[in-house]
Amino acid sequence: MLWRRRNNPQGIAELSSHAAAAPQRLAARTSGPLRGRIRVPGDKSISHRAFILGLLTVGETQIEGLLEGDDVLRTGAACRMLGAWMERTGEGRWRVRGAGLGSLLAPRDTLDFGNAGTGSRLMMGVVGGHAVTARFDGDASLRKRPMRRILDPLALMGARVLHQAEGGRCPILLQGTAEPAPIEYRTPVASAQIKSAVLLAGLNSPGRTVVIEQEASRDHTEKMLAHFGAKVTSEPFGETGRRIALEGRPRLAPRPVVVPADPSSAAFPIVAALITPGSDIVVEGMMMNPLRTGLLTTLLAMGADIVELDRRVEGGEEVADLRVRASALKGVDTPAARAPAMIDEYPILAVAAAFAEGETRMRGLHELRVKESDRLAAVADGLLANGVDCAVDGDDLIVRGAAGAAQGGGLVATHLDHRIAMSFLVMGLASQRQVAIDDEAMIATSFPTFRGLMTALGAQFS
Ligand code: S3P
Repeated sequence: MLWRRRNNPQGIAELSSHAAAAPQRLAARTSGPLRGRIRVPGDKSISHRAFILGLLTVGETQIEGLLEGDDVLRTGAACRMLGAWMERTGEGRWRVRGAGLGSLLAPRDTLDFGNAGTGSRLMMGVVGGHAVTARFDGDASLRKRPMRRILDPLALMGARVLHQAEGGRCPILLQGTAEPAPIEYRTPVASAQIKSAVLLAGLNSPGRTVVIEQEASRDHTEKMLAHFGAKVTSEPFGETGRRIALEGRPRLAPRPVVVPADPSSAAFPIVAALITPGSDIVVEGMMMNPLRTGLLTTLLAMGADIVELDRRVEGGEEVADLRVRASALKGVDTPAARAPAMIDEYPILAVAAAFAEGETRMRGLHELRVKESDRLAAVADGLLANGVDCAVDGDDLIVRGAAGAAQGGGLVATHLDHRIAMSFLVMGLASQRQVAIDDEAMIATSFPTFRGLMTALGAQFS
């Protein structure tokens, strides 16, 4: 039963390792027009943060619309091990009673984050600012991901890395400090994960923690901290950056959290409808936070027929229903400065570009090399396997589209990467021949209802 799995951290681990042991191949075939209305699950970034702030707040935090994907459930399991009490009261509805800032329990077991980079990195920030020692680990993908970018600022604050695998990778044994030093930190890359880890460690600092980023990254941590009563300011820095300042040791008060639909998940049905002839769908309640809508900006510039139906505010975020119709797309040049606002959407944008007329150049994709897989290589390999003309030029990806007629017929290696899996399944819906992926298991990390929702729209999988 899913319910039991969700309420039992051991169960989550067992299910996932079982899934990893037996790859589940899946193919998507040329499908008829996609039609209907769907709502994709809650935003992954906000869901992780809702659990974490619940852990750090005394009293009961109620969450609605939580993404119940494996990544977020792993964060939930870690919160339990650090002292939170949690109960699932319905689909996407959770009650969390926190241990409270400064009062975490020492976890008795490894915090196993599975595939989740965000959960593990944000939680390193939490642990780094508390007098606890925790071991962080995950699957083969997470073990390859660079963690020094998190451990370096935490060391400046007083945390100690007692053990790490080569190159600052998991498994990592981290000893936090009861008195994190207030620091001013400039993030070396535009990364909400780095910013958030520093801010979460700084929460328990007796002073002010400042993070400066050259390019603005998603602001969910700052917003949620303010929502829970922390004193946090964010002001422009230079042309494109932000300076975020947080006063330590706030009195956090439990606040309800309503999680809007994840734009990074909505990206898949949106592009599927754009490239599948005759399609006409509505994606409901998608979060329109401008730091997350880079893909929309790009698709509109490509000539996509996407219309906003009802913009409103839900749970402190702007959301909208989007009507998406099949469109003749044209290639574009996307600036590196837009990367933070669509960092997770490049694989699916590359698929859209494969169906566009002319060349699309996506600039400044260096961070794609350190996601759940080396996404730059995985996307290029997947496109080439399906007869799409593409090239990697430094940090840029160039796709020469076939104006609505990608070939398909390939088998794509997903490298434990959910977004590679979903992107190439979407490609198969509009290709001349089916597109297969080597393993669908990881889709459950961020979008467990992907197959069901896409099938309801008319997608065909086998
Ligand atoms: C996330 C930030 C992004 C993104 C990830 C989620 C977050 O990573 O790729 O999927 O929730 O903070 P970076 O901040 O490292 O770019």
